[in-house]
Amino acid sequence: MTNPLVTANSLQAKKRRSEKIVIITAYDATFAALFDNTEVDALLVGDSLGMVIQGHPNTLPVNLEHVIYHTAAVSRVTKRAHLIADMPFMSYQVSVEQAVESAGRLVQEGGAHAVKIEGGREFATHIRRIYNCGIPVMGHLGLTPQSVHRFGGFKVQGKDATAAQRLREDAHILVEAGCYSIVLEGIPAELAAEITAEINIPTIGIGAGVGCDGQVLVCYDMLGLNPNFRPKFVKTYAELHKQITQAVQSFVSEVRAESFPTDAHSFHGDLSVTNDSNDAPYNRVH
Ligand code: KIV
Repeated sequence: MTNPLVTANSLQAKKRRSEKIVIITAYDATFAALFDNTEVDALLVGDSLGMVIQGHPNTLPVNLEHVIYHTAAVSRVTKRAHLIADMPFMSYQVSVEQAVESAGRLVQEGGAHAVKIEGGREFATHIRRIYNCGIPVMGHLGLTPQSVHRFGGFKVQGKDATAAQRLREDAHILVEAGCYSIVLEGIPAELAAEITAEINIPTIGIGAGVGCDGQVLVCYDMLGLNPNFRPKFVKTYAELHKQITQAVQSFVSEVRAESFPTDAHSFHGDLSVTNDSNDAPYNRVH
């Protein structure tokens, strides 16, 4: 692999060069290997896994073990991209000590290069302590999904002057606390652009307009895997749900018609012979 490993520092350098940063979520080895082979800057093991993998209506049921499990799957095959793991609900809110321990496990057991924390000034001390342990921290402001019940639903934040001012202040506090980057989710485009201009670390937008330093999307959303989920902030770059449905239907039809498997998919003779070209048929290399 000739490309250098993308790091928290190299993402910050991109902001200084006015180069856009692109991040995509990943939850398993197969998708991660595909994404790592593109020019995407970073993979995020988001707690969105609670919705797209686990089928929950929000991210609140996701726990630290779940994120470690998926981060480990992604880190096993990621050779180039920067790898960020989400701190799930109740893995950091309880105390600074809990936050440090959770972040440490995501790095040590999951193989993450950085962690992401939702919230503003109330978590500044937590972020500082994690940073002091040598772990880069990405902040997350605006429509922070772990606060869905306080917001009364997945609602755009920072719409009035007071809320916008608080978000702006929070962004500065996160910079002071040591964040290397901040996700801005579900806030007015003008506010996101102002914050981006005011702070010297990259902002990564999702539903935050065109003025951020980079963008992140949930991979299942941008690949069009769910035909029933088409929110305004997502662009679908493929309609994979169609190909998947067609492929599985073709498999069903062919097995029923006895046109799969054929002789070409079959083994013959003594399987103990080791020079058979079909040895190790389950060796999936990423
Ligand atoms: O959980 C997630 O995937 C996220 C991104 C959408 C920013 O937090």
